[in-house]
Amino acid sequence: MSDLTRLANSPLASVQPAGWQPNSWQPSSWQPSSWQSFPATQQPKYSDAAQLLRVVGSLSRLPPLVVSWEIEALRAKLAKAQRGEQFLLQGGDCAESFEDCESDKIAQRLKILLQMSLVLLQGLKKPIIRVGRFAGQYAKPRSSDTETRDGITLPCYRGDNVNRPEFNAVARDPDPELLLRGYERSSLTLNFVRALIDGGFADLHHPEYWDLSFLRHAKLRESYQKIVDSIAESLEFFESMSGERVHAATRGDFYTSHEGLHLLSEQAQTRYIERQQRWYNLSTHMPWIGMRTANIDGAHIEYFRGIANPIGVKIGAAMGADWLRSLVTVLNPNEEPGRLTLIHRFGVTEIEQRLPAMLKAVNDTGAPVLWVCDPMHGNTETTNSGIKTRRFDNILGEVEAAFQIHEAHGSRLGGVHIELTGEDVTECIGGARGLAEVDLSRAYKSAVDPRLNAEQALELAMLIARRAGTTRRSSSVD
Ligand code: PEP
Ligand code: CO
Repeated sequence: MSDLTRLANSPLASVQPAGWQPNSWQPSSWQPSSWQSFPATQQPKYSDAAQLLRVVGSLSRLPPLVVSWEIEALRAKLAKAQRGEQFLLQGGDCAESFEDCESDKIAQRLKILLQMSLVLLQGLKKPIIRVGRFAGQYAKPRSSDTETRDGITLPCYRGDNVNRPEFNAVARDPDPELLLRGYERSSLTLNFVRALIDGGFADLHHPEYWDLSFLRHAKLRESYQKIVDSIAESLEFFESMSGERVHAATRGDFYTSHEGLHLLSEQAQTRYIERQQRWYNLSTHMPWIGMRTANIDGAHIEYFRGIANPIGVKIGAAMGADWLRSLVTVLNPNEEPGRLTLIHRFGVTEIEQRLPAMLKAVNDTGAPVLWVCDPMHGNTETTNSGIKTRRFDNILGEVEAAFQIHEAHGSRLGGVHIELTGEDVTECIGGARGLAEVDLSRAYKSAVDPRLNAEQALELAMLIARRAGTTRRSSSVD
């Protein structure tokens, strides 16, 4: 019997709670486990099904990491972003690693996201919705199930929730216990982030908390300081006029997201909320569907269609207009504002050719969506020496093209999705300090995709903000 069949017959195959009635939100045929009757791609093959069941059972009894009212607050903000009133900044590691669950690394990553959001706030003149790719980004889709080195073939590395990156048989054997270790680290990460935010780390009154020691490039440092000073001045002006401190707008919220890839663990953290009469994935605020698992007839779409969270879907070159239209209809049949975020990732060379047809396809459905540009995953390349990298200019080029194409087609780019770290790594080429190919080996730490380092990430935010400022000035002259 396969793992999934056993699971489908187990007590985990969820039962509708007492008092539950099919309603317009939750299709009656859907259950947290109904995905198990559909083809599930990118799932690890565990050798010990009994141990897997035990672990998933434990996960399903542990407390949730987030709660439904936070999820609903995020949905309301995303609905505003759809109307052009807010802007989404989603960012973090390609894959979090268990080893990096350390206070410094978490604080640095939070800091760079806060700094980017401050710069975007000033340039775009609208509130920035901050969503981390963290506290659960531990499972990765891979292009091949196996990896061969020197004639030895082993299962591929699928993220710390599944196995280990080291190339030996023990490390690569999928271990169910890692799901529990991942849950614990997600919870530790989120606990620390919440404490930092509650303690005033994100308060606009204190941008000096977010020291700039990583910013070695003098011009960037100067530009950033100007932005911070101008925000401080505006705050001071407003507060002296109103005689009140600006609280709500300056504290800043943070939300979490990860790719909802490992369906057994996502199912285990899916809970029915009586008050809302809906099922929520309470492991994160905003799970997304990756490009490799967005098949309309697949298990991932079945799972995602029934949860009430706002969700993201990655849109790549392989996706046609009909496929996208079906996704929009299946995932948001009630055309609920804030529900669906479409994250396109075509690459700088393909976006111009591919995005317009996607915009038209979605426009034809009339359903509200939030369009976001991921300028990372379509711009990955491999150097002659075999290192995976991305060029800063291509990343910036794709975001700029995205703004233009949306505008030209009467649409709106409402956010960006970036792979970044707060550390001073050398994984992407370019940026103000001109990292070159020879620098890549100096501090390349990612086990999967190359990330912007803190300096490159802040520079990207500044260039996006500057572009938005220029557009606003030129359109006000027209
Ligand atoms: C990712 O976001 O890390 C990823 C794998 O993206 P995509 O599904 O767009 O390839
Ligand atoms: Co990635």
